[in-house]
Amino acid sequence: MPTASLSVTLPAPAKLNRMLHIVGRREDGYHELQTIFQLIDLCDQLSFTPSNEGAITLTHQINGVAQEDNLVVRAARLLQQVSGTPMGASITINKQLPMGGGLGGGSSNAATALVGLNHLWQLGLSNAKLAELGLTLGADVPVFIHGHSAWAEGVGEKLTSVALDTPWFVVIHPNVNVSTPAIFQDSELTRDSLPITMARALQGGAPEWRNDCEAVVKKRYPPIAEALDWLAQYAPSQLTGTGACLFAAFDSQHAAQAVADLANQHWRSWVARGLNASPLQDALGC
Ligand code: C5P
Repeated sequence: MPTASLSVTLPAPAKLNRMLHIVGRREDGYHELQTIFQLIDLCDQLSFTPSNEGAITLTHQINGVAQEDNLVVRAARLLQQVSGTPMGASITINKQLPMGGGLGGGSSNAATALVGLNHLWQLGLSNAKLAELGLTLGADVPVFIHGHSAWAEGVGEKLTSVALDTPWFVVIHPNVNVSTPAIFQDSELTRDSLPITMARALQGGAPEWRNDCEAVVKKRYPPIAEALDWLAQYAPSQLTGTGACLFAAFDSQHAAQAVADLANQHWRSWVARGLNASPLQDALGC
């Protein structure tokens, strides 16, 4: 049995949806998507200190989220249940990514917990098994376990690795909270986009690189429409997921930073590099 040992700090990167088409709705209400997930180097950091007692504890409370509801705690408990391990862990989350911002922050935290604790507890579960467990926590968890930018279908769990360009992005959070379920339930949401091939999607550019949630989100949240219009002055702007974050691609860090510096002081803004491989899998050497 592994013994309690030193703590390990692992990244949980964000994602952007470079395009997101909704091509149908399943009987359980979930939507069938076609999307390109690109990982970016904007990350939360999670530190894990394994212990021989089974307790799972978070050292800091995340604003407004009960410990039991935190996806990281749920991921760790799920792993304990499935594996029967007697091990536990104390976990610290250093949060940079906005909650519910369309960057996949909570899902990425859960994925880092599954991958990291599988490693630290020496459980030997395959990535396919971890992704299957992750999918029960959220539709965006599997891509972070997959650990590579990907073309995704289904609810986001049927993944094919892709090699994307890696521009610099300006990412903006216009300080409004979007309800993902409300967007997916909106009667005006486009749900009948025609499926396209991965090859066609990867050619990029309009009209394929659009987000089908954008029209409904702009109508419900005028500050997001305003931020999208503002950023579009400099480069084509898009929503990620159901928002609230939006982004645009630039050729250089300098060009991206120059635009980020002009952003409204009431927004949060970041400059981030597009990635193909996840820094989580890089950190674990797998
Ligand atoms: O899986 P996740 O927690 O990210 O989803 C949040 C909500 O968004 C779900 O409860 C569902 O209402 C909606 N959703 C959906 N179709 C998807 C992903 C999410 O309808 N593919």
